[in-house]
Amino acid sequence: MTDLDERLSRFIDERKSKGRFRKLREYDTSANSSLIDFSSNDYLSLTSSPALRQAYLARLAESPQVLGSTGSRLLSGGTPAHHVLEDRFASFFNSPSALLFNSGWDANVSFFSTAPQHDDWVVYDELVHASVHSGLRSSRVKQERRLAFKHNDPSSLSDVLRAIQYPAGGTVFLALESLYSMDGDFAPLSQLLDVLDSHVPPSKQCVVLDEAHSTGVYGVSGRGIVRALGEEGRVAVRLMTFGKAVGCSGAVLLCSPTIRTFLINFARPLIFSTALPHSTLISLSCAFDLLESAEGERRRLALFTLSRYLDSLLAPLLAETPRSVLSLPPTSPTPFPQSTCPSLPPCPPSPILGLITPTPHALSAYLLERGFIVRPVVPPTVPPGMERVRICLRADMGTEVLDSFVEGIREWVKTSREQSERTVSSNQNTSMIQKRPRIEVKAKL
Ligand SMILES: Cc1ncc(COP(=O)(O)O)c(C=O)c1O
Repeated sequence: MTDLDERLSRFIDERKSKGRFRKLREYDTSANSSLIDFSSNDYLSLTSSPALRQAYLARLAESPQVLGSTGSRLLSGGTPAHHVLEDRFASFFNSPSALLFNSGWDANVSFFSTAPQHDDWVVYDELVHASVHSGLRSSRVKQERRLAFKHNDPSSLSDVLRAIQYPAGGTVFLALESLYSMDGDFAPLSQLLDVLDSHVPPSKQCVVLDEAHSTGVYGVSGRGIVRALGEEGRVAVRLMTFGKAVGCSGAVLLCSPTIRTFLINFARPLIFSTALPHSTLISLSCAFDLLESAEGERRRLALFTLSRYLDSLLAPLLAETPRSVLSLPPTSPTPFPQSTCPSLPPCPPSPILGLITPTPHALSAYLLERGFIVRPVVPPTVPPGMERVRICLRADMGTEVLDSFVEGIREWVKTSREQSERTVSSNQNTSMIQKRPRIEVKAKL
Protein backbone atom coordinates (compact mmCIF):
# COMPACT_ATOMS: atom_id res chain seq x y z
CA MET A 1 0.00 0.00 0.00
CA THR A 2 1.37 3.42 -0.89
CA ASP A 3 1.51 6.27 1.55
CA LEU A 4 -1.34 7.93 -0.29
CA ASP A 5 -3.48 4.77 -0.23
CA GLU A 6 -2.92 4.55 3.52
CA ARG A 7 -3.95 8.15 4.09
CA LEU A 8 -7.02 7.83 1.88
CA SER A 9 -7.99 4.59 3.61
CA ARG A 10 -8.11 6.45 6.90
CA PHE A 11 -10.68 8.88 5.41
CA ILE A 12 -12.68 5.96 4.07
CA ASP A 13 -12.61 4.17 7.45
CA GLU A 14 -13.77 7.33 9.17
CA ARG A 15 -16.72 7.53 6.78
CA LYS A 16 -17.54 3.89 7.48
CA SER A 17 -17.41 4.45 11.23
CA LYS A 18 -19.96 7.27 10.85
CA GLY A 19 -22.28 5.08 8.78
CA ARG A 20 -21.82 7.42 5.81
CA PHE A 21 -19.88 5.13 3.51
CA ARG A 22 -20.99 5.27 -0.11
CA LYS A 23 -20.48 2.57 -2.69
CA LEU A 24 -21.63 2.00 -6.23
CA ARG A 25 -24.54 -0.39 -6.37
CA GLU A 26 -25.67 -1.41 -9.80
CA TYR A 27 -28.97 -3.14 -10.40
CA ASP A 28 -30.43 -4.57 -13.56
CA THR A 29 -33.33 -2.23 -14.31
CA SER A 30 -33.75 -3.24 -17.96
CA ALA A 31 -37.15 -4.25 -19.31
CA ASN A 32 -36.31 -7.93 -18.59
CA SER A 33 -35.53 -7.33 -14.93
CA SER A 34 -38.02 -8.16 -12.22
CA LEU A 35 -36.71 -5.28 -10.08
CA ILE A 36 -38.79 -2.13 -9.91
CA ASP A 37 -36.82 1.04 -9.53
CA PHE A 38 -38.18 3.63 -7.10
CA SER A 39 -34.95 5.63 -7.15
CA SER A 40 -34.84 6.77 -10.77
CA ASN A 41 -35.43 10.41 -11.77
CA ASP A 42 -36.90 9.22 -15.07
CA TYR A 43 -40.25 10.66 -13.94
CA LEU A 44 -41.95 10.42 -17.33
CA SER A 45 -40.41 6.99 -18.15
CA LEU A 46 -38.97 8.51 -21.33
CA THR A 47 -35.85 6.32 -21.25
CA SER A 48 -38.06 3.34 -22.02
CA SER A 49 -40.50 5.06 -24.40
CA PRO A 50 -40.69 2.97 -27.61
CA ALA A 51 -41.78 6.08 -29.57
CA LEU A 52 -38.77 8.09 -28.37
CA ARG A 53 -36.37 5.23 -29.05
CA GLN A 54 -37.71 4.82 -32.57
CA ALA A 55 -37.58 8.55 -33.34
CA TYR A 56 -34.04 8.78 -31.94
CA LEU A 57 -32.69 5.80 -33.90
CA ALA A 58 -34.30 7.08 -37.11
CA ARG A 59 -32.78 10.54 -36.64
CA LEU A 60 -29.36 9.03 -35.83
CA ALA A 61 -29.52 6.93 -38.99
CA GLU A 62 -30.11 9.95 -41.20
CA SER A 63 -27.87 12.45 -39.39
CA PRO A 64 -24.46 13.25 -40.94
CA GLN A 65 -22.91 13.76 -37.48
CA VAL A 66 -23.71 11.39 -34.63
CA LEU A 67 -20.60 10.97 -32.47
CA GLY A 68 -18.46 13.35 -30.43
CA SER A 69 -18.41 17.11 -30.83
CA THR A 70 -14.56 16.98 -30.98
CA GLY A 71 -13.83 20.01 -28.79
CA SER A 72 -14.99 22.73 -26.46
CA ARG A 73 -17.81 25.07 -27.58
CA LEU A 74 -15.11 27.72 -28.09
CA LEU A 75 -13.11 25.49 -30.43
CA SER A 76 -14.22 22.77 -32.85
CA GLY A 77 -17.09 21.63 -30.54
CA GLY A 78 -19.33 24.58 -31.32
CA THR A 79 -21.57 23.61 -34.24
CA PRO A 80 -24.75 25.04 -35.80
CA ALA A 81 -26.60 22.08 -34.23
CA HIS A 82 -25.75 23.40 -30.74
CA HIS A 83 -27.01 26.84 -31.68
CA VAL A 84 -30.21 25.57 -33.26
CA LEU A 85 -31.07 23.70 -30.06
CA GLU A 86 -30.31 26.76 -27.90
CA ASP A 87 -32.64 28.86 -30.06
CA ARG A 88 -35.33 26.22 -29.68
CA PHE A 89 -34.94 26.23 -25.88
CA ALA A 90 -34.93 30.04 -25.65
CA SER A 91 -38.26 30.17 -27.45
CA PHE A 92 -39.77 27.04 -25.79
CA PHE A 93 -38.98 28.28 -22.28
CA ASN A 94 -39.65 31.94 -23.12
CA SER A 95 -36.17 33.24 -22.31
CA PRO A 96 -34.12 35.99 -24.00
CA SER A 97 -31.30 33.50 -24.55
CA ALA A 98 -30.08 30.02 -23.68
CA LEU A 99 -26.71 28.35 -23.11
CA LEU A 100 -26.13 24.59 -23.19
CA PHE A 101 -23.99 22.85 -20.57
CA ASN A 102 -22.80 19.27 -20.35
CA SER A 103 -24.69 18.83 -17.08
CA GLY A 104 -26.73 20.67 -14.51
CA TRP A 105 -23.75 20.37 -12.20
CA ASP A 106 -21.54 22.21 -14.70
CA ALA A 107 -24.14 24.92 -15.21
CA ASN A 108 -24.59 25.65 -11.50
CA VAL A 109 -20.86 25.54 -10.79
CA SER A 110 -20.18 27.77 -13.80
CA PHE A 111 -22.72 30.38 -12.78
CA PHE A 112 -22.11 30.52 -9.04
CA SER A 113 -18.33 30.43 -9.29
CA THR A 114 -18.18 33.36 -11.70
CA ALA A 115 -21.23 35.67 -11.66
CA PRO A 116 -21.41 36.84 -8.01
CA GLN A 117 -18.54 39.21 -7.11
CA HIS A 118 -16.89 40.04 -3.77
CA ASP A 119 -19.33 42.87 -2.89
CA ASP A 120 -22.44 40.81 -3.73
CA TRP A 121 -24.61 38.72 -1.42
CA VAL A 122 -25.82 35.19 -2.11
CA VAL A 123 -28.89 34.15 -0.17
CA TYR A 124 -30.01 30.56 -0.64
CA ASP A 125 -32.59 28.07 0.58
CA GLU A 126 -30.80 25.77 3.06
CA LEU A 127 -31.67 22.76 0.87
CA VAL A 128 -30.24 23.93 -2.47
CA HIS A 129 -28.20 21.43 -4.42
CA ALA A 130 -24.52 20.70 -3.69
CA SER A 131 -23.52 22.14 -7.08
CA VAL A 132 -24.53 25.64 -5.90
CA HIS A 133 -22.27 25.27 -2.86
CA SER A 134 -19.40 23.93 -4.95
CA GLY A 135 -19.70 26.92 -7.27
CA LEU A 136 -19.83 29.38 -4.39
CA ARG A 137 -16.80 27.85 -2.69
CA SER A 138 -14.68 28.78 -5.69
CA SER A 139 -16.32 32.18 -6.17
CA ARG A 140 -15.13 35.58 -4.90
CA VAL A 141 -17.99 35.78 -2.44
CA LYS A 142 -16.71 35.55 1.13
CA GLN A 143 -18.32 33.03 3.48
CA GLU A 144 -20.02 35.79 5.52
CA ARG A 145 -21.82 37.03 2.41
CA ARG A 146 -23.30 33.59 1.66
CA LEU A 147 -26.39 33.22 3.79
CA ALA A 148 -28.90 30.40 4.09
CA PHE A 149 -32.56 30.88 4.96
CA LYS A 150 -34.83 28.18 6.34
CA HIS A 151 -36.21 25.85 3.73
CA ASN A 152 -39.21 27.36 1.90
CA ASP A 153 -39.74 29.90 4.69
CA PRO A 154 -40.58 33.44 3.47
CA SER A 155 -40.25 34.93 6.97
CA SER A 156 -36.78 33.43 7.38
CA LEU A 157 -35.84 34.89 3.98
CA SER A 158 -37.12 38.23 5.17
CA ASP A 159 -35.00 38.00 8.36
CA VAL A 160 -31.89 37.19 6.36
CA LEU A 161 -32.47 40.02 3.89
CA ARG A 162 -33.05 42.46 6.75
CA ALA A 163 -29.85 41.31 8.46
CA ILE A 164 -27.66 42.05 5.46
CA GLN A 165 -28.58 45.73 5.88
CA TYR A 166 -29.19 46.33 2.24
CA PRO A 167 -28.41 48.72 0.55
CA ALA A 168 -24.78 47.99 1.15
CA GLY A 169 -24.10 47.93 -2.57
CA GLY A 170 -23.77 44.95 -4.80
CA THR A 171 -26.36 42.55 -6.11
CA VAL A 172 -28.41 40.13 -4.02
CA PHE A 173 -28.47 36.69 -5.61
CA LEU A 174 -31.28 34.42 -4.49
CA ALA A 175 -30.76 30.70 -5.16
CA LEU A 176 -33.84 28.46 -5.11
CA GLU A 177 -35.16 25.23 -6.55
CA SER A 178 -38.67 24.88 -7.95
CA LEU A 179 -39.11 21.29 -6.71
CA TYR A 180 -36.73 20.04 -4.02
CA SER A 181 -35.20 16.68 -4.73
CA MET A 182 -35.11 15.24 -1.21
CA ASP A 183 -38.36 16.42 0.42
CA GLY A 184 -40.21 16.51 -2.92
CA ASP A 185 -41.85 19.82 -2.05
CA PHE A 186 -42.32 22.95 -4.15
CA ALA A 187 -40.91 26.41 -3.48
CA PRO A 188 -43.57 29.01 -2.62
CA LEU A 189 -41.99 30.91 -5.47
CA SER A 190 -44.18 33.97 -5.84
CA GLN A 191 -44.19 34.56 -2.06
CA LEU A 192 -40.40 34.37 -1.89
CA LEU A 193 -40.08 36.75 -4.82
CA ASP A 194 -42.48 39.19 -3.12
CA VAL A 195 -40.28 39.11 -0.01
CA LEU A 196 -37.21 39.82 -2.11
CA ASP A 197 -39.02 42.70 -3.84
CA SER A 198 -39.89 44.22 -0.49
CA HIS A 199 -36.20 44.37 0.55
CA VAL A 200 -34.20 44.77 -2.65
CA PRO A 201 -34.90 46.92 -5.74
CA PRO A 202 -35.28 44.88 -8.96
CA SER A 203 -32.10 46.34 -10.46
CA LYS A 204 -30.10 44.86 -7.56
CA GLN A 205 -31.64 41.37 -7.68
CA CYS A 206 -30.61 38.21 -9.45
CA VAL A 207 -32.94 35.26 -8.82
CA VAL A 208 -31.53 31.90 -9.90
CA LEU A 209 -34.00 29.05 -9.99
CA ASP A 210 -33.00 25.44 -10.48
CA GLU A 211 -35.76 23.50 -12.28
CA ALA A 212 -33.80 20.23 -12.45
CA HIS A 213 -36.70 18.18 -11.07
CA SER A 214 -39.55 20.07 -12.72
CA THR A 215 -38.24 20.32 -16.30
CA GLY A 216 -40.54 18.34 -18.58
CA VAL A 217 -43.06 17.59 -15.81
CA TYR A 218 -44.89 20.86 -15.06
CA GLY A 219 -46.34 23.60 -17.23
CA VAL A 220 -47.54 23.42 -20.82
CA SER A 221 -45.50 20.67 -22.56
CA GLY A 222 -43.21 20.55 -19.51
CA ARG A 223 -41.94 24.13 -19.82
CA GLY A 224 -41.38 24.26 -16.08
CA ILE A 225 -42.83 25.98 -13.05
CA VAL A 226 -41.56 29.52 -13.67
CA ARG A 227 -43.23 29.46 -17.06
CA ALA A 228 -46.42 27.97 -15.61
CA LEU A 229 -46.59 30.76 -13.03
CA GLY A 230 -45.69 33.46 -15.54
CA GLU A 231 -42.75 34.51 -13.35
CA GLU A 232 -40.16 34.72 -16.14
CA GLY A 233 -39.88 38.49 -15.55
CA ARG A 234 -38.75 38.10 -11.93
CA VAL A 235 -36.44 35.09 -12.37
CA ALA A 236 -33.23 36.17 -14.08
CA VAL A 237 -31.66 32.74 -14.49
CA ARG A 238 -33.29 29.32 -14.83
CA LEU A 239 -31.56 25.97 -14.93
CA MET A 240 -33.37 23.23 -16.86
CA THR A 241 -31.66 19.85 -16.79
CA PHE A 242 -32.10 16.92 -19.14
CA GLY A 243 -30.91 13.95 -17.09
CA LYS A 244 -34.16 13.48 -15.20
CA ALA A 245 -37.67 13.69 -16.72
CA VAL A 246 -36.24 14.47 -20.16
CA GLY A 247 -34.45 11.08 -20.15
CA CYS A 248 -31.20 12.32 -21.75
CA SER A 249 -28.30 14.32 -20.28
CA GLY A 250 -27.00 17.88 -20.28
CA ALA A 251 -28.63 21.14 -19.24
CA VAL A 252 -29.52 24.59 -20.44
CA LEU A 253 -29.17 27.86 -18.58
CA LEU A 254 -31.88 30.37 -19.50
CA CYS A 255 -30.66 33.92 -18.99
CA SER A 256 -30.06 37.34 -20.53
CA PRO A 257 -27.74 37.66 -23.54
CA THR A 258 -25.25 39.50 -21.27
CA ILE A 259 -25.09 36.65 -18.74
CA ARG A 260 -24.74 34.21 -21.65
CA THR A 261 -21.80 36.15 -23.12
CA PHE A 262 -20.22 36.50 -19.66
CA LEU A 263 -20.37 32.73 -19.07
CA ILE A 264 -18.91 31.98 -22.49
CA ASN A 265 -15.96 34.13 -21.43
CA PHE A 266 -15.51 33.08 -17.81
CA ALA A 267 -17.18 29.71 -17.11
CA ARG A 268 -14.36 27.19 -16.95
CA PRO A 269 -16.49 24.02 -17.24
CA LEU A 270 -17.82 25.43 -20.51
CA ILE A 271 -14.53 26.76 -21.85
CA PHE A 272 -12.31 23.80 -20.99
CA SER A 273 -14.55 20.80 -21.61
CA THR A 274 -15.69 19.01 -24.75
CA ALA A 275 -19.16 20.17 -25.81
CA LEU A 276 -22.23 17.89 -25.82
CA PRO A 277 -21.91 15.19 -28.50
CA HIS A 278 -24.22 15.13 -31.53
CA SER A 279 -25.92 11.96 -30.30
CA THR A 280 -27.08 13.90 -27.22
CA LEU A 281 -28.28 16.87 -29.27
CA ILE A 282 -30.32 14.49 -31.41
CA SER A 283 -31.76 12.72 -28.36
CA LEU A 284 -32.73 16.09 -26.87
CA SER A 285 -34.42 17.22 -30.03
CA CYS A 286 -36.46 13.97 -30.16
CA ALA A 287 -37.27 14.11 -26.42
CA PHE A 288 -38.63 17.68 -26.71
CA ASP A 289 -40.69 16.67 -29.76
CA LEU A 290 -42.25 14.01 -27.54
CA LEU A 291 -42.76 16.40 -24.62
CA GLU A 292 -44.70 18.69 -26.96
CA SER A 293 -46.86 15.84 -28.30
CA ALA A 294 -50.03 14.26 -26.93
CA GLU A 295 -47.88 11.44 -25.55
CA GLY A 296 -45.96 13.92 -23.40
CA GLU A 297 -49.23 15.19 -21.94
CA ARG A 298 -50.50 11.64 -21.34
CA ARG A 299 -47.31 10.77 -19.47
CA ARG A 300 -47.45 13.88 -17.29
CA LEU A 301 -51.05 13.18 -16.33
CA ALA A 302 -50.28 9.49 -15.65
CA LEU A 303 -47.49 10.58 -13.29
CA PHE A 304 -49.81 12.93 -11.38
CA THR A 305 -52.45 10.19 -11.07
CA LEU A 306 -49.86 7.78 -9.66
CA SER A 307 -48.55 10.38 -7.19
CA ARG A 308 -52.05 10.93 -5.83
CA TYR A 309 -52.64 7.18 -5.64
CA LEU A 310 -49.43 6.61 -3.66
CA ASP A 311 -50.38 9.39 -1.24
CA SER A 312 -53.79 7.79 -0.71
CA LEU A 313 -52.16 4.43 0.12
CA LEU A 314 -49.50 5.85 2.42
CA ALA A 315 -51.64 8.32 4.38
CA PRO A 316 -53.53 5.71 6.49
CA LEU A 317 -50.36 3.67 7.03
CA LEU A 318 -48.34 6.66 8.24
CA ALA A 319 -51.21 7.85 10.44
CA GLU A 320 -50.96 4.67 12.50
CA THR A 321 -47.13 4.41 12.44
CA PRO A 322 -45.00 5.98 15.22
CA ARG A 323 -42.84 8.82 13.87
CA SER A 324 -39.83 7.06 15.40
CA VAL A 325 -40.29 4.29 12.80
CA LEU A 326 -41.40 6.06 9.62
CA SER A 327 -42.84 9.49 8.79
CA LEU A 328 -43.07 12.26 6.25
CA PRO A 329 -40.70 15.23 6.72
CA PRO A 330 -41.72 17.18 9.87
CA THR A 331 -42.97 20.31 8.14
CA SER A 332 -45.92 19.71 5.86
CA PRO A 333 -44.68 19.85 2.27
CA THR A 334 -45.32 23.09 0.38
CA PRO A 335 -47.88 22.35 -2.34
CA PHE A 336 -47.64 23.43 -5.95
CA PRO A 337 -48.06 27.21 -6.10
CA GLN A 338 -51.39 28.58 -7.36
CA SER A 339 -51.29 28.52 -11.14
CA THR A 340 -53.39 29.70 -14.02
CA CYS A 341 -51.73 27.28 -16.44
CA PRO A 342 -54.55 25.79 -18.56
CA SER A 343 -53.01 22.33 -18.97
CA LEU A 344 -52.17 21.79 -15.30
CA PRO A 345 -54.51 20.08 -12.88
CA PRO A 346 -55.35 22.65 -10.15
CA CYS A 347 -52.68 21.44 -7.78
CA PRO A 348 -50.34 18.95 -9.46
CA PRO A 349 -48.63 16.63 -6.99
CA SER A 350 -44.94 15.81 -6.68
CA PRO A 351 -43.41 12.55 -7.96
CA ILE A 352 -40.84 12.58 -5.12
CA LEU A 353 -41.44 11.47 -1.56
CA GLY A 354 -38.98 11.35 1.32
CA LEU A 355 -39.85 8.85 4.04
CA ILE A 356 -37.93 9.68 7.18
CA THR A 357 -36.64 6.74 9.20
CA PRO A 358 -33.66 6.28 11.52
CA THR A 359 -32.92 2.98 9.71
CA PRO A 360 -33.02 3.77 5.98
CA HIS A 361 -30.50 1.04 5.10
CA ALA A 362 -32.64 -1.61 6.78
CA LEU A 363 -35.80 -0.44 4.99
CA SER A 364 -33.97 -0.29 1.68
CA ALA A 365 -32.60 -3.85 2.12
CA TYR A 366 -36.03 -5.17 3.15
CA LEU A 367 -37.71 -3.68 0.09
CA LEU A 368 -34.94 -4.88 -2.21
CA GLU A 369 -35.63 -8.46 -1.12
CA ARG A 370 -39.18 -7.87 -2.31
CA GLY A 371 -37.98 -6.56 -5.69
CA PHE A 372 -38.11 -2.79 -5.07
CA ILE A 373 -35.07 -0.57 -5.45
CA VAL A 374 -35.25 2.24 -2.92
CA ARG A 375 -32.12 4.13 -1.95
CA PRO A 376 -31.21 5.21 1.56
CA VAL A 377 -30.21 8.87 1.84
CA VAL A 378 -28.01 9.75 4.80
CA PRO A 379 -25.96 12.78 5.97
CA PRO A 380 -24.25 14.79 4.60
CA THR A 381 -26.76 14.63 1.70
CA VAL A 382 -29.54 15.30 4.24
CA PRO A 383 -29.19 16.85 7.72
CA PRO A 384 -28.53 14.44 10.65
CA GLY A 385 -31.84 13.16 12.00
CA MET A 386 -33.42 13.45 8.55
CA GLU A 387 -32.15 10.07 7.26
CA ARG A 388 -34.64 8.69 4.82
CA VAL A 389 -35.48 6.60 1.83
CA ARG A 390 -36.25 8.63 -1.27
CA ILE A 391 -39.12 7.38 -3.39
CA CYS A 392 -39.55 8.54 -6.99
CA LEU A 393 -42.48 7.66 -9.19
CA ARG A 394 -42.40 7.08 -12.94
CA ALA A 395 -45.28 7.54 -15.37
CA ASP A 396 -45.32 3.92 -16.56
CA MET A 397 -45.58 2.31 -13.11
CA GLY A 398 -48.94 0.59 -12.67
CA THR A 399 -51.12 1.13 -9.62
CA GLU A 400 -50.72 -2.57 -8.77
CA VAL A 401 -46.97 -1.98 -8.37
CA LEU A 402 -47.73 0.75 -5.86
CA ASP A 403 -50.14 -1.57 -4.02
CA SER A 404 -47.46 -4.21 -3.50
CA PHE A 405 -44.79 -1.59 -2.75
CA VAL A 406 -46.85 -0.07 0.06
CA GLU A 407 -47.66 -3.57 1.28
CA GLY A 408 -43.88 -4.14 1.55
CA ILE A 409 -43.51 -0.95 3.60
CA ARG A 410 -46.43 -2.01 5.81
CA GLU A 411 -44.76 -5.38 6.53
CA TRP A 412 -41.48 -3.65 7.35
CA VAL A 413 -43.20 -1.24 9.73
CA LYS A 414 -44.89 -4.20 11.45
CA THR A 415 -41.61 -6.14 11.72
CA SER A 416 -39.69 -3.13 13.07
CA ARG A 417 -42.38 -2.38 15.63
CA GLU A 418 -42.35 -6.01 16.80
CA GLN A 419 -38.57 -5.96 16.98
CA SER A 420 -38.47 -2.76 19.00
CA GLU A 421 -41.16 -4.10 21.37
CA ARG A 422 -39.06 -7.27 21.84
CA THR A 423 -35.97 -5.13 22.52
CA VAL A 424 -37.83 -3.03 25.10
CA SER A 425 -39.16 -6.09 26.88
CA SER A 426 -35.78 -7.89 26.81
CA ASN A 427 -34.14 -4.71 28.21
CA GLN A 428 -36.69 -4.71 31.00
CA ASN A 429 -35.96 -8.39 31.72
CA THR A 430 -32.21 -7.75 31.67
CA SER A 431 -32.53 -4.88 34.09
CA MET A 432 -34.64 -7.03 36.42
CA ILE A 433 -32.04 -9.81 36.25
CA GLN A 434 -29.27 -7.26 36.90
CA LYS A 435 -31.19 -5.91 39.87
CA ARG A 436 -31.66 -9.34 41.49
CA PRO A 437 -28.00 -10.12 42.39
CA ARG A 438 -27.63 -6.72 44.00
CA ILE A 439 -30.49 -7.58 46.35
CA GLU A 440 -28.76 -10.87 47.11
CA VAL A 441 -25.50 -9.08 47.83
CA LYS A 442 -27.30 -6.74 50.16
CA ALA A 443 -28.84 -9.73 51.94
CA LYS A 444 -25.42 -11.29 52.36
CA LEU A 445 -24.01 -8.12 53.82
C1 LIG B 1 -31.47 20.25 -7.93
C2 LIG B 1 -30.39 19.74 -8.83
N1 LIG B 1 -29.65 20.61 -9.52
C3 LIG B 1 -28.65 20.21 -10.33
C4 LIG B 1 -28.36 18.88 -10.46
C5 LIG B 1 -27.25 18.46 -11.37
O1 LIG B 1 -27.80 18.09 -12.61
P1 LIG B 1 -27.06 17.03 -13.52
O2 LIG B 1 -27.44 15.68 -13.03
O3 LIG B 1 -27.54 17.34 -14.90
O4 LIG B 1 -25.59 17.27 -13.36
C6 LIG B 1 -29.10 17.93 -9.77
C7 LIG B 1 -28.77 16.49 -9.90
O5 LIG B 1 -29.13 15.66 -9.17
C8 LIG B 1 -30.15 18.37 -8.92
O6 LIG B 1 -30.89 17.51 -8.23
